[in-house]
Amino acid sequence: MYNVRKVTGDLYWVGANDHRLALFENIHPIPRGVSYNSYLLLDEKTVLFDTVDWSACRQLLENLDHLLGDKPLDYLVIHHMEPDHGASVEEILLRYPGVKIIASAKAFAFMQQFGFHVEGHEQIAVKEGDAQCFGKHTVRFFAAPMVHWPEVVVSFDEADGVLFSADAFGTFGALDGKLFADEVNFDRDWLDDARRYFTNIVGKYGMPVQTLLKKAGGILDQIKFICPLHGPVWRKDLEYFIHKHDLWSRYEPEEKGVLIAYASMYGNTESAAQALAARLCERGMTNVHVYDVSNTHVSYLISEAFRLSHMVLASVTYNLGIYPVMHNFLADMKALNLQNRTVALMENGTWAIKSGELMKKELEGMNRMTVLEQSLTMTSALHGDQAAGLDQLADAIVASCRS
Ligand code: FEO
Repeated sequence: MYNVRKVTGDLYWVGANDHRLALFENIHPIPRGVSYNSYLLLDEKTVLFDTVDWSACRQLLENLDHLLGDKPLDYLVIHHMEPDHGASVEEILLRYPGVKIIASAKAFAFMQQFGFHVEGHEQIAVKEGDAQCFGKHTVRFFAAPMVHWPEVVVSFDEADGVLFSADAFGTFGALDGKLFADEVNFDRDWLDDARRYFTNIVGKYGMPVQTLLKKAGGILDQIKFICPLHGPVWRKDLEYFIHKHDLWSRYEPEEKGVLIAYASMYGNTESAAQALAARLCERGMTNVHVYDVSNTHVSYLISEAFRLSHMVLASVTYNLGIYPVMHNFLADMKALNLQNRTVALMENGTWAIKSGELMKKELEGMNRMTVLEQSLTMTSALHGDQAAGLDQLADAIVASCRS
């Protein structure tokens, strides 16, 4: 059954929702699913903006069939060639043999790399500032390299003020009928997934996102809609979501607060982490969040690390190193370029305790990370006679949060 929604007078969402995929990019859990957004413009010329993942191709085809009827599809715009959007390109070319393709030169190269046969179709390579007129609508293209791949372009429909933003301003979560961000309680129900999407997928590329935000800033008063490739379309409170992206891409925390991530084999490191959390709350901290790294997917930890100003990393020593899942969290932080956080360390071990020193070294290899001097070492378990040390650690974290 076709399933389309009108975005503006002659622009339709023709994408698909996916609740079957468990892991986005085969790594990030998506318990609320995901949407692959495609848009169809019915102007004097008909234009499809992006396709969908191969698994959702049938839905896209039904949607196109419903809206186009006997009309041809004149143009296919590819903003981003990653297969969650580009995998159905060849099927579109087969169904609509007259379609002309608009993409960046690099996107055409990627089509070849993925084995799509675009020969025989007119290929229009666009670069910064190029425009294409489809009738009433003129669409201008802007390069957005590394948001999130190098071939990415975004485009702006000058007639209706629609920004087709590619992966930018996207989020995990299937739409399930709701198309616009103002049809959901975004702050309550979607923001965490939006942050987890941004930080894990695009987080590494803060500078390119800042460049894109500056370009968008130049036409901000003209942008009436933001149409991303995943998640809801924005037509109200654009500043709210733009501000979040500005913070995330500058690696500024959204909130003063403490993420306590612990790696515990037999519960002793966990017990110490919990005792620290209680002391922080006793001292008036209201934004303390405790996670076991062994049963929390690292994408959630990364998202929380981007949200909060402070972190406590508590890890046992394992094979004379950092506990592997904690090590993985640190490696992901570095890969995603997280910076500008204050971190306190707790280490544990029964002999040859090394995890604190090693975690510090990892953090020193990242940008603008502050490691508090106050730390805590426990041998096998934290005992009552170390309560003063725990109090001092809590005092140091609270003082840093309030500074
Ligand atoms: Fe949603 Fe980078 O693809």
